[in-house]
Parts: sequence; C-alpha cells; structure tokens
Amino acid sequence: MNDDYSRGPDHYAERARKEGYPARSVYKLMEMDERLGLLRPGMRVLDVGASPGSWSMYALKRVRPSGSVLALDLKPMSLASPGFRFLQADVRDFGTRELLSAEPGFDLVMSDAAPDTTGSRAVDTGRSATLARAVIEVARALLGRGGSLVVKLFQGGDERDILSEVRGLFDSTKSFRPKATRKSSFEIYCVGIGFRGPKRDD
Ligand SMILES: C[S@@+](CC[C@H](N)C(=O)[O-])C[C@H]1O[C@@H](n2cnc3c(N)ncnc32)[C@H](O)[C@@H]1O
Repeated sequence: MNDDYSRGPDHYAERARKEGYPARSVYKLMEMDERLGLLRPGMRVLDVGASPGSWSMYALKRVRPSGSVLALDLKPMSLASPGFRFLQADVRDFGTRELLSAEPGFDLVMSDAAPDTTGSRAVDTGRSATLARAVIEVARALLGRGGSLVVKLFQGGDERDILSEVRGLFDSTKSFRPKATRKSSFEIYCVGIGFRGPKRDD
C-alpha cells in the first residue's frame, strides 16, 4: 500500500467506506498481512476485540473457503457469514466457558483490542498492557504449533516486558506500526511468528 496521510485528511476512513469495511483499522491488518504473510486460505483465526468487524471481514476473505474466524468482543457485532462465529465476552475472563471450549489449534490469534482511553497515558497504557497480557494468555492456550500472534499495545508502559514475553514464545518477533495508524496514536502491534508450542502447566 502506498497510501498515506498526504492524500487527504483521512484517506483510510474514506477508503473503508468505499470498500464496505466498518472501520479504517482494516488497513493496518492488510498492511501487516501484505508485509508478513499472516493469512492464508484454510486458516483458523481468533479475532480479539473484533467489533465492529473490519479485521474479521478481511480475514474471512483471506481464509475462505475452508478457513474460519472466531471473533470476541465486549460489544456486539452484526457480521454474519459462513465460517464466522462471534462470542460477546471479555478477553480478561479467560475462564469464559465458550472460549475455553474453543478447540485449540488456531493458526492466528490477532487482537486490535483497546481500552476506552481516559486521557491519562499511564492509566491507558496500563489497561492496554493488561489486555495484551490476557491476549497472550489466550494465544498460549489456543494457538497451534507454528501459529502467529498479532497484539495491539500502547507504548509508554510495559511494552518491553510484553515484547520479551512474546519473544520467548515465538521463533520471530517484531513490533509494527502500520501506515494507517493515526499520527497522534501511541499504539504499536507486537507480532510473533512461529509459536513454539502450546501452554504447559508451569
Ligand atoms: C479498535 S476496536 C477494534 C476494531 C476492529 N479490529 C475492526 O477492525 O473493526 C477495539 C475493540 O476492542 C474491544 N475491547 C476492549 N476491551 C476488551 C475486552 N476486555 N475484551 C474484549 N474486547 C475488548 C472494544 O469493545 C472495541 O470494540
């Protein structure tokens, strides 16, 4: 993608509207996919913090016809499609019965989950780190060997610890700031590729 903010005040929001995606954030996932080859036909994907549904819609297009997307969010989601299932739940409640009953062996756990911002960077980064840790916990339990993780994280808090936790679980790890990220945003995505193995009791 060559697009950037020089093309207009919010080129990505306009493009999302034209292409039928409910959120401009789809272009962040698209760029990571194009650069890192995250999605392929047949994959099973868990999308955390999925509402209103752009990432799920894009992932469904990439994994069809044999793949599937399980989406999770606090808020409802209106997407309905073959191969798609939605759970309204809090990722921090990893005991959520439906999530625990999900069959392990996902190929990709991706999270764009973000807390409501308060204006206090310390509070916001702390909440984002709590969410990221919950996502990593879910990924450890539900990813299959060789799977990948994408997790959003606000910079300025525990991101070094979180990146090093991810580094210990995956063959390769990168932090990524897609072009569609708003200039004022302090978010990055931490990407782990090549999950070394499912969680053991430790
Ligand atoms: C930036 S939006 C996601 C946009 C989505 N990726 C898309 O492309 O349409 C962040 C989402 O994270 C969700 N979220 C925040 N905290 C959560 C939690 N504890 N559990 C599940 N979802 C959460 C919010 O409800 C919100 O819908």
